[in-house]
Amino acid sequence: MATAAAATFLSAPRSDRHGARRVAVACSVPLKRVAPESLQAASGSLVGVPSRGTGDLGGPGAMEYLTAVLASKVYDVAVETPLERAGKLSERLGVDLRIKREDLQPVFSFKLRGAYNMMSKLSQEQLNNGVICSSAGNHAQGVALSARKLGCDAIIVMPVTTPEIKWRSVERLGATVILKGDSYDEAQSYAKLRCQEEGRTFIPPFDHPDIIAGQGTVGMEIVHQLQGPLHAIFVPVGGGGLIAGIAAYVKRVRPEVKIIGVEPSDANAMALSLCHGQRVMLKHAGGFANGVAVKVVGKETFRLCQNFVDGIVLVSQDAICASIKDMFEENRNIPEPSGALALAGAEAYCKYYGLKGETVVAISSGANMNFDTLRLVAELPDVGRKPEAVLATFLPEEQGSFKKFAELFGRMNITGFKHICDSHGKEALVLHSGSDNVGDERAKAKLVAAGADGLECEDSYRPYREGGKLLAWLGICMGTTTGIFNLMTAGLGLYVKAQHPSAHPLVVACWEALPLTMVRVVLVSSLGATLALVILLMYASMKMTLQGGSPSGSA
Ligand SMILES: Cc1ncc(COP(=O)(O)O)c(C=O)c1O
Repeated sequence: MATAAAATFLSAPRSDRHGARRVAVACSVPLKRVAPESLQAASGSLVGVPSRGTGDLGGPGAMEYLTAVLASKVYDVAVETPLERAGKLSERLGVDLRIKREDLQPVFSFKLRGAYNMMSKLSQEQLNNGVICSSAGNHAQGVALSARKLGCDAIIVMPVTTPEIKWRSVERLGATVILKGDSYDEAQSYAKLRCQEEGRTFIPPFDHPDIIAGQGTVGMEIVHQLQGPLHAIFVPVGGGGLIAGIAAYVKRVRPEVKIIGVEPSDANAMALSLCHGQRVMLKHAGGFANGVAVKVVGKETFRLCQNFVDGIVLVSQDAICASIKDMFEENRNIPEPSGALALAGAEAYCKYYGLKGETVVAISSGANMNFDTLRLVAELPDVGRKPEAVLATFLPEEQGSFKKFAELFGRMNITGFKHICDSHGKEALVLHSGSDNVGDERAKAKLVAAGADGLECEDSYRPYREGGKLLAWLGICMGTTTGIFNLMTAGLGLYVKAQHPSAHPLVVACWEALPLTMVRVVLVSSLGATLALVILLMYASMKMTLQGGSPSGSA
């Protein structure tokens, strides 16, 4: 049972049947817009460290959150997940690394804890009116499963771009899925409209005390499961519900344990908000780890993070991919990018601060990996570990570009090469990975230096940001050629395109790439033979038609 104080503190949002109105008011104050790149930090270093005093681990509602977490009803649907020792990783890092397996929840993520905790507190009348939420992922499944358990009607609004696999799994849980809007924001506006029109209760993904308290049960379990010394808990951060709940609980009972958030460096809304001392809105947020691709963190989650969190670690896409591979090698679990985020942060932090012999926990927060993402992720783990570098270069579509590009690389071993033309044909995006004794740094430096000559270079894997472009291109290539031949056609396609701008690179390259004269001869002969056969058949059929009988001419 929650205490009276807790009941008072948590009652305001509960009595608010139309959560949308409350959120709309909260958002009406314009937030400062900042670019994710405005925060640069060395990999693994803590940023956004709040400037509170050491004894100031409280703030309004701190005690109430503790009791709310203890009283939470999540175990009607959620399970207490194991805290597993990651043997191989511990050995590699020189620490005792434990992984909290939230990917083992019934819907493969922690999100149902918060959703169920909030929904289990709705009155019978509210349950009869039904609930609504907008989500493109794990929150949707949490709400759908909770609604099924509580016997209430649920509408889940998802952007039209949501992969079928995701909305089908929500539908299978018995919820009504409405695909609306091109973006999450549009889906959310529609959900809030329906919520007002139909008197449904809006279930927000993170910014609500009951959601936060539900997620806080993860922290409660860690404290039960690990009684010895603990240096830090690494938590993935999107809107901040999970970290706020864990921090509010753990800092009350184990204040010496550091609570460290982990964000992708291109979706760092919490880190930037903590740095600015106020919530800010990201101008754009990288969508690779889509579970945490949030432009604005919650109002309440931010307040709690300011009070309880020790800082944020930022990680790259490549590091996330490397951690997905690590997790797979450790326990055959394939987390989604957001699910591997905390592990990537823990590793970067341990390396940066030279941590040895300490115990650290990383939360594996979800495993709703979509198969297309998995295919792309598989290309990158070695880049995260550094034996290989993937670079993206824009080559002007003009004569001599490719020659210049090849000269810049010199002896470097190119392990992959992909060429994507832009729709105006002015320049081509070339992705090239390289590894060997020459080293990725030198190659990168060379390309960066070449920027002045019209070659521009990036060390991030641009197609993830460019969405379907790469996939579309791969589709063409895979259909045309395979394996190393594929790379050759692409490379030569670029060359041919530079020589003959009007030619289609892939079609021409298929011919140019044929390495042996013999192959060409065979191809020409077979083409010639086919042509001769066609002419023969045409002639025969013409003769037959003229004679009005069989080809032999006999009646
Ligand atoms: C797998 C996964 N990890 C982490 C998060 C971030 O949680 P929060 O928004 O509470 O910070 C989410 C959010 O949906 C998620 O789906």
